[in-house]
Amino acid sequence: RDALFEKFCKEHKELIKTLPIGNGWRVQHLYNYNGFWLDPLYIKSNLLLHTYFRSQSSDIFLASFMKSGTTWLKALMFSIINRHRYTISDHYLLQHGPQSTFPHIDSEFDRPTIDFSHFPPPRLFATHFSQTLLPPSMTSCKLVYVCRDPKDVLISKWHFMNQIRLKDRPPLSLDEAFELFCQGVSDFGPFWEHVLSYWRASLDSPDKVLFLKYEEVKKQPEVELRKLAAFMGQSFTTEENENGVVEEIVKLCSFENLSNLEVNKNGVNDFKVVEVENRLFFRKGEIGDWKNYLSEEMKERIDKITDEKFKGSGLIL
Ligand code: A3P
Repeated sequence: RDALFEKFCKEHKELIKTLPIGNGWRVQHLYNYNGFWLDPLYIKSNLLLHTYFRSQSSDIFLASFMKSGTTWLKALMFSIINRHRYTISDHYLLQHGPQSTFPHIDSEFDRPTIDFSHFPPPRLFATHFSQTLLPPSMTSCKLVYVCRDPKDVLISKWHFMNQIRLKDRPPLSLDEAFELFCQGVSDFGPFWEHVLSYWRASLDSPDKVLFLKYEEVKKQPEVELRKLAAFMGQSFTTEENENGVVEEIVKLCSFENLSNLEVNKNGVNDFKVVEVENRLFFRKGEIGDWKNYLSEEMKERIDKITDEKFKGSGLIL
């Protein structure tokens, strides 16, 4: 098995050498792998996923482009599944935070021997890979996608990546981040192709892919939470609805509540590829913070790209 894995690692190194190179946000270079820009370590984990990961038909995946609301959705999905296990006042989330609730399969499946088979079903996993990069066994499972206004994603990602950028690299300017983002060159991007890959999957199989928008969850959290629970096969009962369980979960997972927890102020999560301070996942949690950063010209350029890319798809962000 070790010899096999070594051969695998060697092939990964050879593959990287053949791929187009772009400027990285955290590391120096991203590589274009089957149409998407990835950190080489994620290309390796993608190959591992395809070769070794065994999904179960009851698995539920949370997919997102970075900075679109992954942390929030992790908290909400975990709370839905485990609502009979914890009381709100003594909830797992309060001690451990959303990051440790379920694994990011892209970075945490970094060896063939990693085994998630002891997780009770339904197992939950998060991924940032585009739908087209997922192994077929994963695309036959239920999947929740959350997307967000690309302008807010860009600003959120620019802040975040500067915080986790390798120490020997000078800060990434907003102008450079903007230019790279528009060209599609950012981890897991292009943003638009990422969103479209899941949008199309949701049109093809609405029972398998639930397409959510950060802005909608923000505006009407109870409605979206009920939708999410029903999709996950865990609808709220009449009794739960009457007892305010939905409102309680929304409050538990709110930005205000989660960002003020000790674990999210001072804790660190090990994603294997990189260790990240939990506080970095909670910046502002607002719609439209891009207005404080982007010029009118920048706004128009991004909106124009969005219009052009999404034209005819039926998707409006
Ligand atoms: P901002 O940087 O705009 O504040 P991800 O979890 O995909 O990395 O996305 C992080 C973004 O979601 C950050 O956006 C963060 O503040 C916001 N966020 C985190 N938890 C949230 C919550 N409970 N409610 C709303 N937004 C949240």
